[in-house]
Amino acid sequence: MLGKHLRLGFAISLVVLVVAILMAAWGFPKIVQTQIKKNIQLADGSLMFDKWKKLPMPLTFKVYVFNVTNPDAVDSGERPRLQEVGPFVYKEYREKTILGYGENDTIKYTLKKTFIFDQEASGSLTEDDVLTVLNFSYMGALLSVFEIMPGLIPMINQALGVMFENLTDPFLRVKARDLFFDGIYLNCVGESSALGIVCGKIRADAPPTMRPSEDGNGFYFSMFSHMNLSEAGPFEMVRGTEDVSQLGHIVSYKDKTSMNTWGDKYCGQLNGSDSSIFPPIDRSRVPERLYTFEPDICRSLYASLVGETTHFNMSAFYYEIHESALAAKSANRDNKCFCRRNWSANHDGCLLMGLLNLMPCQGAPVIASLPHFYLASEELLEFFDGGVKPDKEKHNTYVYLDPVTGVILEGVRRLQFNLELRNMKGVPQLENVPTGLFPLLWIEEGAILPPSVIDELQHSHTLLSYVEAVRWIVLGIAILAFLGLAIAVIRTGNIPIFPKQANSVSFILRPGSFNPTDAHKAQ
Ligand SMILES: *[C@@H]1O[C@H](CO)[C@@H](O)[C@H](O)[C@H]1NC(C)=O
Ligand SMILES: *[C@@H]1O[C@H](CO)[C@@H](O)[C@H](O)[C@H]1NC(C)=O
Ligand SMILES: *[C@@H]1O[C@H](CO)[C@@H](O)[C@H](O)[C@H]1NC(C)=O
Ligand SMILES: *[C@@H]1O[C@H](CO)[C@@H](O)[C@H](O)[C@H]1NC(C)=O
Ligand SMILES: *[C@@H]1O[C@H](CO)[C@@H](O)[C@H](O)[C@H]1NC(C)=O
Ligand SMILES: *[C@@H]1O[C@H](CO)[C@@H](O)[C@H](O)[C@H]1NC(C)=O
Ligand SMILES: *[C@@H]1O[C@H](CO)[C@@H](O)[C@H](O)[C@H]1NC(C)=O
Ligand SMILES: *[C@@H]1O[C@H](CO)[C@@H](O)[C@H](O)[C@H]1NC(C)=O
Repeated sequence: MLGKHLRLGFAISLVVLVVAILMAAWGFPKIVQTQIKKNIQLADGSLMFDKWKKLPMPLTFKVYVFNVTNPDAVDSGERPRLQEVGPFVYKEYREKTILGYGENDTIKYTLKKTFIFDQEASGSLTEDDVLTVLNFSYMGALLSVFEIMPGLIPMINQALGVMFENLTDPFLRVKARDLFFDGIYLNCVGESSALGIVCGKIRADAPPTMRPSEDGNGFYFSMFSHMNLSEAGPFEMVRGTEDVSQLGHIVSYKDKTSMNTWGDKYCGQLNGSDSSIFPPIDRSRVPERLYTFEPDICRSLYASLVGETTHFNMSAFYYEIHESALAAKSANRDNKCFCRRNWSANHDGCLLMGLLNLMPCQGAPVIASLPHFYLASEELLEFFDGGVKPDKEKHNTYVYLDPVTGVILEGVRRLQFNLELRNMKGVPQLENVPTGLFPLLWIEEGAILPPSVIDELQHSHTLLSYVEAVRWIVLGIAILAFLGLAIAVIRTGNIPIFPKQANSVSFILRPGSFNPTDAHKAQ
């Protein structure tokens, strides 16, 4: 009687075991993955979608300016002494407008950013503080013209005298608000024909930093006003509803699948995401590089994997920028198509380590680097009499990613804009100045998850660890039950694999509540 029950129990436990193994090996992970995918893909009903469309919290946008403390000395040939002033802190709100869905699982959108000055976070600094910086537009105009017709420089300089009132030196005393957003007026109306050349060149190159004035008589120069409230894009991004590992990948920008800025297919590749979203990390294939596409500098950049760590009590993958990303072509052959022009006759071919020429991208002779020339050639620092000091902690670019969802736990992106100060004979303002790469300012764009979202994420991680535990507990119970019943069945003699008095087996397994001897007797 009992033997029959035993055999039935054994059969059931066998089935349960098979099911438990299947669930542990395939079912549970599948269910978990499906749930995660459902919540991170860019589709209605996913938790991520709304946050992606409209960032629930603003990013912090910080500006640090290099204030020139000895402009008069520089005019007479001394090395510049700089003093970092900042941060001027802005809140950066981001909102996306969805334009439609593409055939290959893509979504098309434009991105609108809004910047609001954050007085509290800026401390004692205000937008009315006066800064002394290199006259970016003036130097930029001279350098641009110099590229095409060096002989015209003295004449051009006269024209610039009309454009800029009171031209005395290559420096600009300007309020922070005007330099960043409101703009500095450049007049294009005057007698001089050279003025026409300069203004025509600006119109032709159309650098984003030059905003034509409403009356069409001039321009406003400012560093960031083009970023405030303008719709950037359109971008086309993979939604991850089909293949979640492709989630966030930028497929096209301004309806093109590569940038022709660099005149090279390789350098024009659109790699990676817009840094708002990343696919989950598959632990068996952790990517060595995390690519992002940066329209401001017309190229893709990458951060390199450093390792796994703990952030906010959650396991996270840490990536940071590596010097190979902005390396000179001698150090990284892949970068050779990013260097198109000389910035100084002292260097042949390409730029120095750690620099990126934005001329092809911005239509202005601007050179990008990491702040304080971090990871760049040390030669660049020799130009200064203090005030430029690279520091990994302060000038790095990095991101902490949650591997389960691909959510950024914390990330910071930093970039510095520089222009060459060049000694030019025939230009009174530049006759005595030293030649070198001159930093204007650097920006930091940072994102850190708000506590509410961290809580949410931590909860889901805890839940996941429970699910994980349940998976193994169920499997463990199934194995124990199976073994217990198997031994019992063997002991009843129905399957005579082991001798009936296999004390060694029952000794090792000691099947707790179940007593094989009783079962044997009962039969
Ligand atoms: C910037 O430097 C100038 C001297 O060149 C100084 O007068 C000014 O106060 C400085 N600005 C700030 C905000 O420190
Ligand atoms: C979708 O993918 C196919 C095959 O890869 C390609 O031929 C087609 O051009 C793509 N469509 C769009 C709109 O990108
Ligand atoms: C950005 O534009 C908005 C709307 O015009 C304006 O309120 C805001 O002050 C601008 N931000 C800055 C920093 O100028
Ligand atoms: C230029 O200099 C004149 C005389 O020194 C002065 O009246 C005028 O305000 C200055 N203009 C500017 C824009 O600084
Ligand atoms: C720089 O630009 C400002 C504003 O247009 C002007 O007042 C100043 O004289 C300029 N200096 C030079 C050297 O261009
Ligand atoms: C784009 O990504 C591919 C593979 O992921 C990589 O081999 C290539 O170097 C990247 N291109 C650029 C310009 O970074
Ligand atoms: C991290 O977890 C430990 C133990 O689970 C806890 O004591 C600690 O307060 C947590 N720290 C944070 C920052 O949440
Ligand atoms: C860069 O400048 C040097 C010296 O003027 C010149 O020999 C070299 O050909 C230039 N390279 C490019 C790519 O223009």
